[in-house]
Amino acid sequence: MAKSVKFGILVSFLLLAASALLAWTYQVFPARPSLESLLAFTIVAFLLEQGSTKLSAGGIGSTSFVIHIAAGIIFGPFWGSIITGVGTVMWLGTLQWAPVRLTFNGCQRMLSIGIGTLVYMYVGGTIPPSSLKESLFPFLLLSITYFLINSTAVSAAISIGSNRPFREVWSLNSRGVIGYDLAASSIALLLAWVYTDWGLVGLFIAVLPTLVVRHVYVMYRDLQDSSRELLEVMVKSIEARDPYTSGHSLRVRMLSRAIALELGLSIKDLEQIETAALLHDVGKIHEEFAPLLRKESRLTPEETALMQTHAEKSAELVGIVSKFRGTIQESVRHHHERWDGQGYPAGLSGEDIPLGSRIILLADTIDAMTTDRPYRKRLDVEVVIAELQKCKGSQFDPKLADVTTSSLSVRTLIAGTTHDADNADLSPISSKKITLLRKGIWKAGNA
Ligand SMILES: [Fe+2]
Repeated sequence: MAKSVKFGILVSFLLLAASALLAWTYQVFPARPSLESLLAFTIVAFLLEQGSTKLSAGGIGSTSFVIHIAAGIIFGPFWGSIITGVGTVMWLGTLQWAPVRLTFNGCQRMLSIGIGTLVYMYVGGTIPPSSLKESLFPFLLLSITYFLINSTAVSAAISIGSNRPFREVWSLNSRGVIGYDLAASSIALLLAWVYTDWGLVGLFIAVLPTLVVRHVYVMYRDLQDSSRELLEVMVKSIEARDPYTSGHSLRVRMLSRAIALELGLSIKDLEQIETAALLHDVGKIHEEFAPLLRKESRLTPEETALMQTHAEKSAELVGIVSKFRGTIQESVRHHHERWDGQGYPAGLSGEDIPLGSRIILLADTIDAMTTDRPYRKRLDVEVVIAELQKCKGSQFDPKLADVTTSSLSVRTLIAGTTHDADNADLSPISSKKITLLRKGIWKAGNA
C-alpha cells in the first residue's frame, strides 16, 4: 500500500475519532468558559509552540502540552480540546504545513487532551481541580494518556513516512524522555491551581518561568549542535585528503547507531558510541600516515605496523577533550580489537573489549566492504552479510554479528550506502538528530 494511502487512512481515522469526541463531549460538558479565557489560553498555547525542537526519529516537539493539559483540567474535555486544536492549527499554519498535516496534528492532539481529560474525570479528578493533593493521581493518569496517544499517533505517521518500524520510531522518540515529560507536565497542575485562584493574571505569572526555561534550553541545544557540527567539520576535513575514506566516519557513525539501536541501549550509551564512531580514525591526521593512506598497493609489514598505531593516536587526540575521556576514548582506542584476541593495540578478547569498540569494528568493516576500492568494487549486501557471519566468533562478537545481520535498518543502510559524505547526513536515521533526543523533555510531538 502506498505511503499516501496509509497516511490518508490514519488521518481519516483521527478526524473521525476527534469529531466524535468533540460531538459527544459538547453534549455532556457544554459549559463554556469566558471568551477572554479561551483567547488567553489559545494565545499562550500558540506562544509555547515557538522554539519547537526536532525529535530524534523525526517530527517536532514543543512545550505547549503544559497549557493543553491545564486547559483540559480547567475547562473540561471539550473546551480543552478546542484550545489545543486551535492553538496547534494556528501555529502549524504559520509554518505553512500542508492541510493534511494540520488536520493530523490538530486531531491527534485534540484526542490526546480530550481522552486524557475524560480519564482524569473518570478516576475522580474535578473540573477545575479542587485540591492539588486529590488531583495528583487523576492528573498522572491524564498525563500518561496524553503522552501515549500523542506519541503513538506521531510515531505511526513517522513510521509510515520513513518506512521504519513503528517500535523503533516510538522507542527513539519516547524512550528515556517520557519520565521527564510526565514530570514537566506537573507544571500544568500548578498552572491550573494558580489560574483558579488568580485568574488570567495567575496564568501569565505561571507561564513566564516556563518561557524563560524554554529560552535557556534552546540556547543550550544550539550550543550542543554547534559543537557536534564542528566535530563533523573536523572529521570531514581529515578525510578530504583521501577520496576512498571520504564520508567514512559519518557512515560508520550511522551504522554504529543502527546496531546500537537494535541492542536497545540507553540514550547515553547510544550517544557515546556515536561520538566514538565519528572520531574512531581521527589519529590518521598525523603526517606519518599520509603516504600510507595515499598508497594504492598493499602495505608492507612495517607500514602495516605503523598504520596500526592510528588507534592509539586517535585515542590520544580524543582524550584531549575532557568530556570524551573514559568510555568514548576507550571505545576509540580498541576499535581494532578482535573477539579472538588477535586484534590491536592491546590484544583484548571477548567481552573485555568495550562494547562500543565491538560495534565500531562491525560498522567499520561493513563500510570498508561496501566502498569502492582501487582494487575492487563494493560488495553486495548478501556478500557482506555472509562475510560477517563467517567471521563471527573470530573477528566479531558473535551475538553482535547476529543482531547486525538480522537488522532491517542495518541491511537498508548497507544497501543504500552511497559513499558520499554529504549524503551520509541525509539518511532517515541521521545521527545528527540524536543530540535533540535527550532534550525532548519539553515536547508534545507533531509529525
Ligand atoms: Fe581504524
